[in-house]
Amino acid sequence: MVLSFDSSKPITEPLTVLPIFGTRPEAVKMAPLVNLLKARPEFHCVVGVTAQHRQILDQILEFFNITPEHDLNIMLAGQTLAEITTRALTGLDDVFKEVQPDIVLAQGDTTTVLAAALASAYHKIPFGHVEAGLRTDNLYDPFPEEINRRLTSQITQLHFAPTQMARENLLREGVDSKGIFLTGNTVIDALLQVVNRPEAAVEKTPGERLILVTTHRRENWGKPQENIALALHEIIEKFPDTRAVLPMHPNPIVREPLQRVLGQHPRVELTEPMDYVDLVKVMKRAHLVLTDSGGVQEEAPALGLPVLVLRGTTERPEGVHAGTAKLVGTRREDIVQQASRLLSDADYYTTMSHAVNPYGDGGACERIAQAILHWAGRGERPQDFTPAPQPPPVPSSPLDLVRA
Ligand code: UD1
Repeated sequence: MVLSFDSSKPITEPLTVLPIFGTRPEAVKMAPLVNLLKARPEFHCVVGVTAQHRQILDQILEFFNITPEHDLNIMLAGQTLAEITTRALTGLDDVFKEVQPDIVLAQGDTTTVLAAALASAYHKIPFGHVEAGLRTDNLYDPFPEEINRRLTSQITQLHFAPTQMARENLLREGVDSKGIFLTGNTVIDALLQVVNRPEAAVEKTPGERLILVTTHRRENWGKPQENIALALHEIIEKFPDTRAVLPMHPNPIVREPLQRVLGQHPRVELTEPMDYVDLVKVMKRAHLVLTDSGGVQEEAPALGLPVLVLRGTTERPEGVHAGTAKLVGTRREDIVQQASRLLSDADYYTTMSHAVNPYGDGGACERIAQAILHWAGRGERPQDFTPAPQPPPVPSSPLDLVRA
């Protein structure tokens, strides 16, 4: 489905673009795009946030110097998926009536994205999906993200696919190739804008190996998260030169097992969520990353950091194929075994720690802006993102290694 642009708008008038986001990772990935659109005379960029997350969204808005024109402030403590969806949908309805955008943009697979796409469809406003086409092909894993992104693709006009695999997923589902743009992922734009800033300079502590851990996903709530905490405890005990930093998601359900199992350990720092530059600094100092987050899985390979993915599936297989990420799942023994191997086998560590950038080159926002202009009949189609050539993949599959 390609809904065409209303060409009655005079070409001298800028396109009104309405980016919508609600959670912290969306804010990181949308911030460089918002700032680029705001700086360009071809666009009139109006920002709307659902604030599905409150405190941790505000941290990122402040860091990237973005003041939303519309803030729905929908977050409730202990909110259900239905509450987020209905509150976002109703709120966006009013925003769309007031702003009357030429196009709405949202990123990823959260409930905010689905609500933004659906509200756009109800208003027959074209919708552009940033980071389109990621799939695990398992409807309930990750939950509800796989559901959100599948539904969103059905009512999207412009699909900004970050990688070739994402584009192929969309083509396989029958999306018109004219509506797909291969842009790279905006998370690399954000990372490159921050990583070399003077305030992101770091010094590693000699003799210490730092492990960065993040875990928050719904499908890991409860037992899997407890397994992750127990595994980390065991790893830290086994390797006395290691220290772990774990910025915790604000949700009390996520915090409980982490605090119970790890709260007293002298070499585990359970911290509040970090602002973006602090998180980038920890990544630069880290030796190894354990995570179930999507964005961290994309950022770590760019910094040459091996990643153990604490999930049974991933919609980001590019890092696994490039040999810098491994899917280890959430069984305690598997996590301990894989981390131990990386911490004790220097050659193995080296094969996993080469820097690669399968996800982007820092030019994704520029390509998205160009794709919007092209769709509106105001410019050429952007060149596809092509990742830099990658070294040969590590031979064995991650699960073979885990089971070896
Ligand atoms: C949401 C997204 C998930 C994304 C994650 C990133 C959905 C369904 N899920 O999951 O895809 O990976 O954000 O963080 O959209 N809370 C606060 N303050 C905050 C943020 C959250 O107190 O600033 C607490 C609240 O109790 C809230 C809970 O965290 O109810 C859960 O937030 P919610 O947006 O429902 O889901 P996430 O698990 O964060």
